[in-house]
Amino acid sequence: MNILAIETSCDETSAAIYGDDGLLANEIASQLIHQKYGGVVPELASRAHVRNIMPIIDAALTKASISKETISAIAVTYGPGLVGSILVGLNFAKALALAWNKPLIGINHIEGHLFSNFVNAKFPEEPFITLIVSGGHTLLVRVNAPGQYQIMGTTKDDAAGEAFDKVAKMLNLGYPGGPIIDKISQRADASYLRLSKPKMDNKFDFSFSGIKTAVLYFIKKLAPEELEKHRADIAASFQSTAVNFLIDRSFSLVDEIGLKILSVVGGVACNSLLRKRLAERALSENVRVLVPPPLLCTDNAAMIARAGYFKYQKGNFSPLSISPDPSLAL
Ligand code: KG4
Ligand code: ZN
Repeated sequence: MNILAIETSCDETSAAIYGDDGLLANEIASQLIHQKYGGVVPELASRAHVRNIMPIIDAALTKASISKETISAIAVTYGPGLVGSILVGLNFAKALALAWNKPLIGINHIEGHLFSNFVNAKFPEEPFITLIVSGGHTLLVRVNAPGQYQIMGTTKDDAAGEAFDKVAKMLNLGYPGGPIIDKISQRADASYLRLSKPKMDNKFDFSFSGIKTAVLYFIKKLAPEELEKHRADIAASFQSTAVNFLIDRSFSLVDEIGLKILSVVGGVACNSLLRKRLAERALSENVRVLVPPPLLCTDNAAMIARAGYFKYQKGNFSPLSISPDPSLAL
C-alpha cells in the first residue's frame, strides 16, 4: 500500500510517498520569494504552488520509482492554512483521485505535524504528550491513540514560531526569523536581557505577545549603536526565554499526568537550543523525548502521507466535495 500526499497549506509545495516500505519520497519546493516581503504573501504563495505542484509530484513519483498503479490513495492537506494555497493542492489532489480512480483522504495539517515523528519510527502504544510548535500553532496535546487527541494547552495569542519571526523582524534580521535567531544566538549572551515568562490561568497554556512586546520596548529605548552591538544578545535572550517557557510547560504536563513520552514537532522543533534542552531534561527526568529530523519539522508532505496511511487503514476517506478549511482545529 502506498499513499501519495500533497501539502500546500503555506509556502512549501511538497509531495511525498509513504507506504508499507516506509518513506519512498519527500520532495519539497520552498518559496524564497517571500523573503523580500518579510513574511508570506498569500497571493504569491498560491501562484508559486500552481507553478510547482506538477513538477514536485513528478519528482516524488520518479524518486520513489513507482507508477500510479501502485498508489492506493491520495492524501492532501485541507486545512488549516492559507485558503488560496490549500485550494491549489486540494484541487490537484481531487483531479488526480478522479483521473486515477483512487480514494481521497483529507488531512488536518496539525495532525500531519503530529504524525511527523512516526514517519521513521513506530507510533507509541502507550499514551503520550505532543508539543506542536510551528509558525501557526502552539499546542500541548495528550495523544491517547492515533486519532484520539485531548488538547491540554494552547497559546492565547501568538504561536511560538510567529513570535520568533516577529522578534527577528524587530531586529531587522530577515525572514523566516526562527532559523536566523537560532544561528546568531549560538555565540551570543542570552543573559543580556531579562525577560519574564507570563503567568497564565491554565498552567499549560502559552502566551508570547508579552515577551515580544518587552523586546520591542527595550529596542525602542536603545541607542542605535547599542542595538547594533547587542542585536544577537537580544535575539539570544528572547530565544532562551521562549525555549524555557516551552520546555517548562511541556515537562510539567508530562510530570503531572505521569506519562513517559514527549513528542515535539513543528518548525520550531528545528531550534537547536530547544533540542539541546529537551535532550538534557529527557535525561534528568527519565522521559523519552522524540524529535523528528529538521526536514520533517518544517512543512512537508511526508507527515501528511504518514497520517494518510493511518486513515487509509481505518477506511477514513473524504468525499470529492471536501472544501478547504483555513481555520480547521485539531
Ligand atoms: O511547521 P512550519 O514549517 O509551518 C507552520 O505550520 O507554521 O513552521 C514554520 C515556523 C516559522 O515560524 C519559523 O521561523 C520556525 O518555524 N522555525 C524556527 C526554526 N526553524 C523554523 N524557529 C526557531 N528556530 C529554528 N531553528
Ligand atoms: Zn506546519
